Amino acid sequence: MGRPKVTVVGAGNVGGTTAQRLVEKNCYDVVLVDIVEGVPQGKALDLSQAGPVCGYDAKVVGSNGYAETQGSSVAVITSGVPRKPGLSRDDLLATNAKIVQTVARELVSRSPEVILIMVTNPLDVMVHVAQRVSKLPNQRVLGMAGVLDSARFRSFIAAELDVSVHDVQAMVLGGHGDSMVPVMRYTTVAGRPLSEWLPKDRLEAMIKRTRDGGAEIVNLLKTGSAFYAPSAAAAEMVEAILKDQKRVLPCAVRCEGEYGVNGVVVGVPVKLGRGGAEAIVEYDLAPDERAALARSAEAVAELCGAVERLLVL
Ligand code: APR
Repeated sequence: MGRPKVTVVGAGNVGGTTAQRLVEKNCYDVVLVDIVEGVPQGKALDLSQAGPVCGYDAKVVGSNGYAETQGSSVAVITSGVPRKPGLSRDDLLATNAKIVQTVARELVSRSPEVILIMVTNPLDVMVHVAQRVSKLPNQRVLGMAGVLDSARFRSFIAAELDVSVHDVQAMVLGGHGDSMVPVMRYTTVAGRPLSEWLPKDRLEAMIKRTRDGGAEIVNLLKTGSAFYAPSAAAAEMVEAILKDQKRVLPCAVRCEGEYGVNGVVVGVPVKLGRGGAEAIVEYDLAPDERAALARSAEAVAELCGAVERLLVL
């Protein structure tokens, strides 16, 4: 039978690190794809040569094409251009929408059973594009954002309270970035609501820092964006799916009425298993949280409307 195959498209910072995290689990064979000649091959070779030291014998190959991706169970899509000076958000949106739709088409034609995990930004819109173009059912096209935003929030909370991250639970919903919605009632430390641990102003400062978590790292790195935590989050989603763990994690998926959102991709709690997003779990939200989620969905819907003319369906 062999190990399930996971393709990672984009062999840059996020893609390369995702491939590393996956191959180190020794449960999946990994195919790394990029348009730049030599880079996916070089990184795959380097990762293979770490196997004897790290103790894995899962296979990793690099390619500039898609032949090797045939029969992939999951594909993580990180390909795209990052934001640069002089490039507007709309330029980025159009460029990445074109890249993502080509990639999705190439993948699905060779792996009709694949589950897609999008990482390329703007995340929610890229999930929309990949789903529209691939025509895969909603439960097989997911976006990685909520796991990352929740992890950032958890790490800030743990540092503030000087407790282990293991004891901090958080659920960050909504769009990735400005419109994220931390669900406070379900943010707990060792089962105790966060509001009982911290005064409101400290709580709000941490929410703001989480919202700006990506930008804080971009400002420090100067030449790129975060990749250790994003790749960890993507690998956790792959594992939940391929090990059929039924984890409940926040992921970007198209809602069809859940949370009052119709036909729009937004971050919601999802049960992840071998079928992909097997169910959307509906939490009881406070009225302001529900309104924030609706605003988030409206912002995503507007951007999706703008990319529609670029899609070849
Ligand atoms: N097909 C395959 N790979 C491509 C394509 C394409 N059509 N277009 C670009 N790429 C590759 C680039 O060659 C590069 O190696 O995608 C890779 C992107 O890597 P980085 O520039 O290092 O970006 P990274 O930090 O990995 O972020 C990737 O994830 O978190 C998001 O906002 C981030 O959208 C960005 C994505």
